[in-house]
Amino acid sequence: MVTITQLHPHFMAEIGDVDLMTPLSGVDVSDIETAFHQHSVLLFRDQPVTQEQQVEFSKHFGPLIPTTNYHREGEKNRLRRELADVSNIDSEGRLLAEDDNRRLHSQANQLWHTDASFKHVPARCSLLSAYEVPPSGGETEFADMRAAYDALPDARKQEIEGLVAEHSIYRSREQMGFTGYNEVARAELPPVQQVLTRVHPGSGRKTLYLAAHASHIIGWPVEKGRRLIEELIAHATQPEFTYRHEWRTGDLIIWDNRCTMHRARPYEDLAHRRDMRRSTVSDEVNTVEAARGAYAKAV
Ligand code: OGA
Ligand code: MN
Repeated sequence: MVTITQLHPHFMAEIGDVDLMTPLSGVDVSDIETAFHQHSVLLFRDQPVTQEQQVEFSKHFGPLIPTTNYHREGEKNRLRRELADVSNIDSEGRLLAEDDNRRLHSQANQLWHTDASFKHVPARCSLLSAYEVPPSGGETEFADMRAAYDALPDARKQEIEGLVAEHSIYRSREQMGFTGYNEVARAELPPVQQVLTRVHPGSGRKTLYLAAHASHIIGWPVEKGRRLIEELIAHATQPEFTYRHEWRTGDLIIWDNRCTMHRARPYEDLAHRRDMRRSTVSDEVNTVEAARGAYAKAV
């Protein structure tokens, strides 16, 4: 039987007495799923999984999204296709240079976000494993969007009910100072619509659905929508709703992208290695379509 230790008053739990390097029993899988629905972010310590073991464990949560890593032309992938390379090292084991594209793009992880909300069907959950961690910095922070929703005044809850936001990867990139993407790049990842609040399927609780990728509210003047999104992100990332994880080698964390946000904290990446690997599990439908479907069933 796995053990479950809550790490924060609202969310986050550590799962013990489990070995992710071996196939799990049905009971363990089901206990982990239940804990995931309740606590949203689960930490497993001392799990130095291989790439294959990480992929196998991840598949318990749904189909994996193949990754699009940024590499210099002709460079080999360091990791298998199911794993996103969240490290600062290249396929030869060298630290990425200051002007390396992959390094620059990964800096957007330092903005509060939820993974792949800029895709029509976003990510359900992500699993990040730590192979090598820097001596200081490089923590990951998580924010509980269900607790943040609960804490909103009733008038605010009513005002945002049913709103839809436009999400685009170029919105978060723009905030990092990257602009000037050409039409071809923009056509590859066109903006998508996602609900601003949703019912979290695992728990039935209402949650905010926010990210640095969210640019404005559909049907509202752009600036007004942007202000609302900024205000809600500021509300949802107050200390009482957040948890900071200091990584140790062998840690693996799974988070629920449907009801949490996360961000990476800076570290001296030109001097120290940080080797992290992420598997990403797809959701089933776009959030606006899911909400319409629920409405269709209700009437
Ligand atoms: C990610 C991510 C945060 C970190 O991999 O999706 O946001 O701390 N990572 O590396
Ligand atoms: Mn992320």
